[in-house]
Amino acid sequence: MARSLESSAPPFAGKAARPCSTVLPPRRLRASRWPARLDLLQSLSGLVLALFLIVHMFFVSSILISHEAFYRVARFFEGSLFFAEPQPWLVSVVVGGVLAVFVLHAWLALRKFPASFCQYRVFAAHQEGMRHPDTRLWWIQLWTGFALFFLGTVHLYGMLTQPALIGPYESADRIWSGRMWPLYLFLLFAVEIHGSIGLYRLAIKWGWLEGSDPVVRRRRLRLAKTLFSLFFLGLGLVTLAAYVQLGIAHAGRAGEPYRPGRVLAGEAVPQPGPGTPLPPRTGG
Ligand code: HEM
Repeated sequence: MARSLESSAPPFAGKAARPCSTVLPPRRLRASRWPARLDLLQSLSGLVLALFLIVHMFFVSSILISHEAFYRVARFFEGSLFFAEPQPWLVSVVVGGVLAVFVLHAWLALRKFPASFCQYRVFAAHQEGMRHPDTRLWWIQLWTGFALFFLGTVHLYGMLTQPALIGPYESADRIWSGRMWPLYLFLLFAVEIHGSIGLYRLAIKWGWLEGSDPVVRRRRLRLAKTLFSLFFLGLGLVTLAAYVQLGIAHAGRAGEPYRPGRVLAGEAVPQPGPGTPLPPRTGG
């Protein structure tokens, strides 16, 4: 078995892949369940992150409703339902959990990256031979995932270490005066493209929504993937524009936290909602 593997050429090898022959260690190869388990774990961690991001995008875009709405969402994650004072460490705990899944997912994905120029050429030859759109999608997913190593980590580190600085003015100041908007712009495209391709590939891989005609099913899933990307990219861009606009308006007072009821000159006065008013922010 080991012998036959050693001598067999990689698929779609041709000339390009000749220097990439694999040298196997001189021991018997035994079938292992670990590659399958790791694959399952990668799918599960990807699914958890994708579901988290859908919810996250709706929370972040609550700024489109009003400053007050985003303020209340941010305070909710600081335990406003249970504590009299905001508890930003609760946000850090959630971010820590998301960061752990993020790192696990990235580590599992590393197994699939071409690790040398030879492997890259084997993949290029494979892609050329297959000429299948899903193979191209895999390649896009690989590069957007690579970008997320850096872009996602910067964002998560900020949320982990400065959980008290999440709020209408705080976030808008970070995005505009803290010059984070270019990072968020790239992060938004990378994460939405990566996430939608990831969900599409999960559906194909694990046989979700199977019907009698696989061609029709694949076409429908592709349409769903494109609509998903367009919706969340659109929502994300409009949301980012709202933060930038607020950040520009608040630039002269950057660093000043949002307090419910107090408004910037020229802004509409928010209507106080029913119930007890929230305590003014003390953090940041
Ligand atoms: C628990 C973890 C997370 C928290 C608490 C969080 C929180 C936030 C907040 C408050 C914003 C608004 C801007 C700001 O205040 O800086 C934001 C924006 C954003 N976050 Fe996260 N985030 C988390 C995880 C992630 C992850 C894992 C990703 C993707 C890898 C991500 C992608 C984005 C993107 C793309 C934006 C810009 C949204 C837009 O343009 O509409 N976030 N996040």
